[in-house]
Amino acid sequence: MTTSPLLTLNNGTKMPALGFGTLDRTFPERVTGAVEAAIATGYRLIDTAASYGVERQVGEGIRRGGIARSELFVTTKLWISDYGYERALAACDISLRKLGLDYLDLYLLHWPVPSDFEATVASFQATEKLLADGRVRAIGVANFSPKHLQNLFQRTQVRPAVNQVELHPFFIQREMRDADTSHGIVTQSWSPIGGVFLKKPTTQRGPLDHPCIAGIAAAYGKTPAQIVLRWHVQHGLSVIPKSLRRDRIAENFDIFDFELTAGDMAAIDALDTGIRAGPDPDRVDTKMFSWKIED
Ligand SMILES: NC(=O)c1ccc[n+]([C@@H]2O[C@H](COP(=O)([O-])OP(=O)(O)OC[C@H]3O[C@@H](n4cnc5c(N)ncnc54)[C@H](OP(=O)(O)O)[C@@H]3O)[C@@H](O)[C@H]2O)c1
Repeated sequence: MTTSPLLTLNNGTKMPALGFGTLDRTFPERVTGAVEAAIATGYRLIDTAASYGVERQVGEGIRRGGIARSELFVTTKLWISDYGYERALAACDISLRKLGLDYLDLYLLHWPVPSDFEATVASFQATEKLLADGRVRAIGVANFSPKHLQNLFQRTQVRPAVNQVELHPFFIQREMRDADTSHGIVTQSWSPIGGVFLKKPTTQRGPLDHPCIAGIAAAYGKTPAQIVLRWHVQHGLSVIPKSLRRDRIAENFDIFDFELTAGDMAAIDALDTGIRAGPDPDRVDTKMFSWKIED
């Protein structure tokens, strides 16, 4: 069976470069089958979050996947309504219970909350405690800018192992990637094939529909999604595409038998617009995202 290459995090923990995303608010009941299919395909990194409302479905998919827990790398995320030291500790317990696991491989702060950075810092300090207690094997953040990282470093001890950010050919985050690398942080791409465009009330097409990607795909006899996922992995990024379809789950994992040339990599880099499609991390707070996590 094909396996993903591993990335070594800054505390020595190994994480697969290619993993499986589980954000689907339309068909949450199909997430269990998708996770089971992903594990059967060879995915070993499963990415979820308390706020996706599917931790129970993910846990059931993992159990049905039927492989040893030690072979899997499971990530979940602390939601902003649970920020604060004690609340964060309790929220991690709830996520573990919903997943049916007794430890996490990676626990991320889902967003910075710049207007209440005290709570963001306290939450990260809680994850430091979870790390020290062995409840999680690595800790990190999501959607942090270089400035948010600097603010965090001033107040905390452990460097985040991962920063999970919006990243696809239309928003390649060069500055963010350089900042992460300089701090020994692995950048992980969310919406790697442009899923964020499908959720917006917009006519803007995603990167899979771009003629440049289609042309490269035709030249390699690969699909546009495979070209884009290969581009992420060749950049040294971790990447977590989501699909509920078995054919696409397999397609998205079948990217390890070819290599893009430097010219193709540069041509995809040149599609960058510098404009994010998802939320601006500087504006996130509990008014913008007002929902809470149901127990
Ligand atoms: N930290 C954060 O703030 C954050 C934010 C967003 C997402 N995430 C994580 O990142 C993961 C991936 O992001 P995402 O789900 O937004 O977007 P994505 O993985 O870039 O794209 C998913 C979309 O593309 C479709 N798709 C999948 N494979 C395809 C293929 N081979 N060809 C054509 N279409 C394909 C899927 O539809 P079907 O399911 O119908 O195949 C789905 O609509 C999420 O699931 C979640 O785990 C994190």
